[in-house]
Amino acid sequence: MRVDVLGAGIVGLTVAEELGRRGLDVVVVDPDPVGGASYAAAGMLSPAAEVWHGEEELLRLGLASLRLWPALAARLGVELRRTGTLLAGYDAGDLQQVERQAALLHRHGHRVELLGRAGVRSAEPSLARVAGGALLPEEASVDPRAVCAALLARVELRGTPRPDAEATVVATGTALPEPWRGLVSGVRGEILRLRSDDPPRRTVRGWVGGEAVYLVPRGDGRVVLGATSEAHAGPPVVSAGGALRLLAAGRALWPALDRAELVEGTARDRPATADGLPLVGPAGVAGVVLAAGHYRHGVLLAPLTARLVADHLETGHVEPCLDPRRTFGGEP
Ligand code: GLY
Repeated sequence: MRVDVLGAGIVGLTVAEELGRRGLDVVVVDPDPVGGASYAAAGMLSPAAEVWHGEEELLRLGLASLRLWPALAARLGVELRRTGTLLAGYDAGDLQQVERQAALLHRHGHRVELLGRAGVRSAEPSLARVAGGALLPEEASVDPRAVCAALLARVELRGTPRPDAEATVVATGTALPEPWRGLVSGVRGEILRLRSDDPPRRTVRGWVGGEAVYLVPRGDGRVVLGATSEAHAGPPVVSAGGALRLLAAGRALWPALDRAELVEGTARDRPATADGLPLVGPAGVAGVVLAAGHYRHGVLLAPLTARLVADHLETGHVEPCLDPRRTFGGEP
């Protein structure tokens, strides 16, 4: 089967790699590969740290996708850092946020180790004296730019679709074509990249005076500090106010930020859907499959999405909670 995948972000590229492995004739079509949210992404593989109340389905999907990451990373020859995530509450109010998160995860049978002030300090000596935290030892991270570069080296990339493609997978992030354009909206994320001689050991997902912030170390001194989150119609630029909020919250949690080199600021829009779940499956037009709307979870959910799209093309299977037809009742 000849399949065109529209969109060379992490989702489209991972789908293309999976289809290629299954023997399909695949090309990826994108005039600006890895130009969207994948370029900004920190690469947290954090199904438990990134799930909120009411997103239990997302937790299940994220855990399933996390289990697929080791094999994908090994195939691509990229590092998978399996150092876990530390949830950190800066003050007593922030600690309540950590405890709420831990309670939510406990209810779903997820292992959560609560830590006091001293426990956080010994887990992450580079952090400030915070009120407390929790350890999620199974979580991981990847460098999405390294992943995308490895994927790009394994797929055929073109500027325009093939006229004789038998199926098309639409994985164009926030830029869905008509008639699906309205199914996703952009939520701006601003994110900073730093270099430090005293980085955290593992991903830190913190709350500082109610402000959510995360630090994702790469293991070689590079640290990603993210991310703002705001619906936005303008061009994706890093605002001074956004950078200031990230730096202030980041420094409160991780004082070594003061001495770190500020390497890069990036802004991109995350593709959000109305119900917070991605759109993976039949698009309501013959031969078209959507793999879109992954919002904050594109990197985490890429391998599961790839498996679901490939299964759908081979067998017709659709994961009910991700079926795009739930949003338009059969016809887009
Ligand atoms: N998953 C992290 C973010 O969207 O900022």
